[in-house]
Amino acid sequence: MKPRVLLTHPLLPEAMDYLASQVDLELATEEMILPRKELLARIADKQGLLCFLTDTIDREVMDRAPNLKIISNCAVGVNNIDLKYAWSRGLLVTNTPDVLTEATADLTLGLILATTRRLVEADRFCREGRFRGWKIDLFLGLELSGKTLGLIGFGRIGRAVARRARAFNLRIIYHDPKRLEASLEKELGVEFRSLDDLLREADIISIHASLTPESHHLISAERLKLMKNTAVLVNVARGPIVDEKALVEALKTGQLWGAGLDVYENEPAIEPELLSLDNVVLLPHIGSATRETRRKMCFMAVENLLRGLRGERPANLVEPADKA
Ligand code: DGY
Repeated sequence: MKPRVLLTHPLLPEAMDYLASQVDLELATEEMILPRKELLARIADKQGLLCFLTDTIDREVMDRAPNLKIISNCAVGVNNIDLKYAWSRGLLVTNTPDVLTEATADLTLGLILATTRRLVEADRFCREGRFRGWKIDLFLGLELSGKTLGLIGFGRIGRAVARRARAFNLRIIYHDPKRLEASLEKELGVEFRSLDDLLREADIISIHASLTPESHHLISAERLKLMKNTAVLVNVARGPIVDEKALVEALKTGQLWGAGLDVYENEPAIEPELLSLDNVVLLPHIGSATRETRRKMCFMAVENLLRGLRGERPANLVEPADKA
C-alpha cells in the first residue's frame, strides 16, 4: 500500500504529478491559505505531510496524526513548524536549502535598486502619463557606489548578496550571531559589526536572518532610531524580524529614507499605512520565485518526503537549534 500524504497546496505540476505517482496523495486546497480546521481534519490518517511556509504546523497538528513520519517543508525557513515538538515526537522535518540562495540574492539586489532609485514610483509616473520630458531633479535617488551595505545574517543568502554587492562598489559590513574567522572575512571582503554599530554605520541594511524567538522584532522602534535618516532597509527574510508599525512611523517621519519589503509581519496582511507610502517598495514574498528555483524547491521537498517515508535519512533534515 502506498503511504498516505497530505499536500497542503499545489506544487508545480511536474513535481505534483511525480509525487502522485509515488504516494496516495491528497491535495488539501488550491487556495493560498488552508483553513486550520481543514488541516486538522485532513492530517489525521497521513504518514507524510508536504507543506509550505503559510501552514502553521504545531503540536496540535502533529498530535492529530499518530502515524505521521515526516514533515517536508517546501521552503528553507522552518519558523512555521514547532521543530522541538516534532523532534520530541521522533518526526523528521526537512527544508529546501541552497537551491533558492541565488534567486533570493538576486531579488535582494532588485529591491535595493528599486528602493534607492525609486523604480516603482517612476514606473507609476510613466503609466499615469505624467512624463513630459527630462528634468534635472526628476526622481532623484541614492547612489550605491561607495556606500556601505550592512547585512544582518551572514549565511548562504547573506554571502550571495555580498558577492553581488561588490560589483556595485558597495563596502560590506555584517552582523551574525556567529562571527567568521578573520581570514574568511578578509577573503570575502567583509567586516563584522555589532548589530547596533551596523545600524548606525550602514547606508543600506538588508536582513538575511532566520526568524527565531531571538530575532523577533530585532529591528525595533529603538533600533530604527539608530539608523541614518538617509538609510534604506530591505527585508527578504521574515516579516516579524521587523516591528512593522515602528517601521511605518520611521518611514512616515523621514527617520528612514526608504524600505524594500518582500515579507510582512502578519503575512499576507500588510500594515495598511505601508500601502500609501511612496518611499517603500512592496513585493508579495517572491524572493525565490524563479521558474528554475521553484522547480528545484518542489522536487527537493518531494525527494525529502519520499526518503523519509521509505525510512531513509532525507538529505535536508532540520533539527532544533538547541537540541541536546
Ligand atoms: C523560504 O524558502 O523560506 C522563502 O521564504 C520562500 O521561498
